Amino acid sequence: MSNIDLDICFDARELRNALGRFATGIAVVMAQDEEGLLGVTVNSFSAVSLDPPLVSFCMARTLSSLRRLEAATSYSVNILLEHQSEISHRFSRPGTDKFANIAWEIGPSGAPRLKHIHACFECVPYAHYDGGDHVIFVGRVVHLLAEGDDRPLLFYRGRYHRLHPTPP
Ligand SMILES: Cc1cc2nc3c(=O)[nH]c(=O)nc-3n(C[C@H](O)[C@H](O)[C@H](O)COP(=O)(O)O)c2cc1C
Repeated sequence: MSNIDLDICFDARELRNALGRFATGIAVVMAQDEEGLLGVTVNSFSAVSLDPPLVSFCMARTLSSLRRLEAATSYSVNILLEHQSEISHRFSRPGTDKFANIAWEIGPSGAPRLKHIHACFECVPYAHYDGGDHVIFVGRVVHLLAEGDDRPLLFYRGRYHRLHPTPP
């Protein structure tokens, strides 16, 4: 932490808009405990390390699932396909039965995971870090699925997009 008195010349809206210019994929983080299933849409997913195999995502401290996710012994990070914007929308709405009529299964790590996805990283917790108004989760990948040539769902400037490869 720096003690320098930073001269911040932007507000939260401007910061959010600027961050939205970074195009991302969309993932749904899923876990299960004695209270049942939980799932949260995230676009903060990122690769961290190959050895050991680590990935990360950030969870807002306001999430109703945060406490349960911090205590989870395993979780899955499901990378959505381009036609799965409805799944992204559904797992971003608190207070609903997010898993109703969704094809899912229990993976080898014991975490629930979506069927029919672009890729899936099953993780055990590696670390949780303070990330301001978010908690940074770092997971150690213990199982992965990455098959097929279908395209991922993208998120850019607050809207869903599809990939249009640049011609060679
Ligand atoms: C495209 C998209 C990306 C999101 N990314 C994140 C994220 O990275 N971190 C986060 O905390 N919430 C993110 N959210 C919001 C959460 O999905 C939403 O607040 C959450 O599902 C509420 O879960 P709860 O039932 O645990 O409160 C995102 C929402 C959308 C639509």
